[in-house]
Amino acid sequence: MSPHQTQNPFRPTAGAEPPQLIGRAGVLDEFVYGLRIRSGAPGLLTIFTGARGIGKTVMLGEAEDAARAQGWVVISETATRGFMGRIGESMRTTAEELGEGPAGRRVTGIAAAGFSITTELPPREQASWRHLGDNLLRLLDDQQTGLAITLDEIHGADRDELAQLAAAVQHFIRDRLPIALVFAGLPAAVSDLLNEGVATFLRRADRIDLHAAAIEEVETSYRETFAGLAHPLDPSLIRIAAASTGGYPFLIQLVGYHLWQLAEVTDAPLTVADVEVALAAAHRRNTRVVIDAALSTASPKDLDFLRAMAEDDGPASTADIGRRLGDQKNTVGNYRARLIDAGLVQPAGRGRLEFAIPGLREHLRQTQ
Ligand SMILES: Nc1ncnc2c1ncn2[C@@H]1O[C@H](COP(=O)(O)OP(=O)(O)OP(=O)(O)O)[C@@H](O)[C@H]1O
Ligand SMILES: [Mg+2]
Repeated sequence: MSPHQTQNPFRPTAGAEPPQLIGRAGVLDEFVYGLRIRSGAPGLLTIFTGARGIGKTVMLGEAEDAARAQGWVVISETATRGFMGRIGESMRTTAEELGEGPAGRRVTGIAAAGFSITTELPPREQASWRHLGDNLLRLLDDQQTGLAITLDEIHGADRDELAQLAAAVQHFIRDRLPIALVFAGLPAAVSDLLNEGVATFLRRADRIDLHAAAIEEVETSYRETFAGLAHPLDPSLIRIAAASTGGYPFLIQLVGYHLWQLAEVTDAPLTVADVEVALAAAHRRNTRVVIDAALSTASPKDLDFLRAMAEDDGPASTADIGRRLGDQKNTVGNYRARLIDAGLVQPAGRGRLEFAIPGLREHLRQTQ
């Protein structure tokens, strides 16, 4: 390796900040605008949706950075059971840190007993959560800042807990307090969540559906990032590599990472054949990571359902799936809902379902 070559800059890991944020120009504008207004702006309530590996967690991180840059306090949580209590504990710590003075002591005194962090909050804790939040927000308001809460994987949230959060935040908003809430989750499951009416005010949130980036943008970014290699990568090879990602963020990182790694050990300009090796490795890993993660919670019956679906080359009708499984209509309906929540399948028009992850059908056919 040449001494001039920098370290591999690509980050093919869940939630890791990429070397360049591709295809997300303007996405946070409304949120950042809201941070300046501090209360009641629509962008202060934002939900990011998108397929696995599309970059939802990364966008939450960007939102957090933007909030911190405006001096806001940030609480970053994942919506596994007990998140209300964990947010409560973070609010208390924040108040403690803020409050050497009397205001801080007043705030922390409210929540002296602590919050349950294993389940949703019992009524008394709920009241003290609100009280603590209210006081903390007033303290931050005096400083012309606010509190931004990010909640990842919201599709898996316990509905009662989410309703508690929604109720409290709605209160804060009504009192014109400086609160921002940014969520991320899988699209079909988030739609279900919003339709269930757990938190009607969430329907008014800015919903930003994240998509794959344009290939040209990937190409431009690759050109800049690969300029750090000791031996430059031929522009035609950069184009091939960019096209193979389909603009899909996780693949952008994987392809970049494998190419870089190969360039390190080759110590000569890469050939077409080299690039093909790196691309194949990247795509294999993508399939393994994304599909394995998505299937990790699938039961044997879920798998039967998915395999019945995989018999079709395109979207499958639930009637056909039911027939193949020999199942009752309502059982099919239950599995359909479960698999949508897991981000494995998504509705594709009247009575039809399609796979939500590229390559899942082929994977299921190969592992019959
Ligand atoms: N805009 C982007 N440009 C380039 N790479 C990105 C971008 N957004 C995310 N990535 C990369 O894509 C990968 C997946 O990002 P992230 O973990 O945020 O996805 P996700 O949507 O949260 O996935 P999951 O649904 O599995 O949680 C990471 O390696 C990250 O570095
Ligand atoms: Mg994520």
